[in-house]
Amino acid sequence: MAKKIIELQNLAKTYKVGDTEVQALRGISYSVDEGAFVAIMGPSGSGKSTLMNIIGCLDKPTSGNYILEGEDVSTFDKNKLARIRNQKIGFVFQTFNLLSRTSALENVELPLLYSNVHTKQRHEMALHALESVGLKNRAHHKTNQLSGGEQQRIAIARALLNNPALILADEPTGNLDTKTSSEIMDIFTKLNVEKGITMVMVTHESDIAAYARKRIHVRDGQIIRED
Ligand SMILES: Nc1ncnc2c1ncn2[C@@H]1O[C@H](COP(=O)(O)OP(=O)(O)O)[C@@H](O)[C@H]1O
Ligand SMILES: [Mg+2]
Repeated sequence: MAKKIIELQNLAKTYKVGDTEVQALRGISYSVDEGAFVAIMGPSGSGKSTLMNIIGCLDKPTSGNYILEGEDVSTFDKNKLARIRNQKIGFVFQTFNLLSRTSALENVELPLLYSNVHTKQRHEMALHALESVGLKNRAHHKTNQLSGGEQQRIAIARALLNNPALILADEPTGNLDTKTSSEIMDIFTKLNVEKGITMVMVTHESDIAAYARKRIHVRDGQIIRED
């Protein structure tokens, strides 16, 4: 049997807003094998981003356990979570989250800016990551001079920089047209197949979810179906 990279055990998340409580997750149990490609689907407000934030060590569950590569990270404090995040996880967002008047290269280097990696090596790593998404020739363009698809590829290169075991993508094609979306999905597929990076992606589009090898459907904070 394949090794589990992610084990979610009865996860719940409640947000308190003033006097009201929102139960965003209500008992999620699910495991992801190393090297899997999983799509999380569900309507708006069903808890997909909340789940991704927990999987990405950006937030903690209210109850339940999250085992990441054998470690129960649900007990970790903020600093420990940040360390795990930097070591293991790459993020890709719907809105790319790039610095706009900054070059592609500098955007990709960002995760290493405060590390002890030397400038020259940082450049080399960033160029290599840009090459793996087919954008080495755009390294010195400012990101606001690039198309949406190119910007998302820069964001993917940035996510690759720390050699993540896991890439999390929340609606990565939400702002892209159909053709560009399929280019982005081809890159994810290649990273998954060739580098063995585990992919977990949120989407509400079934043609995008079709690139994944497994799909889970979330509704009202619970998994209602897997296929
Ligand atoms: N930071 C927050 N504070 C309070 N409520 C939140 C917060 N984030 C999400 N929610 C609520 O939790 C539920 C799930 O949200 P979310 O995980 O963003 O769903 P999805 O990504 O599927 O649209 C929604 O009802 C939303 O309003
Ligand atoms: Mg969301």
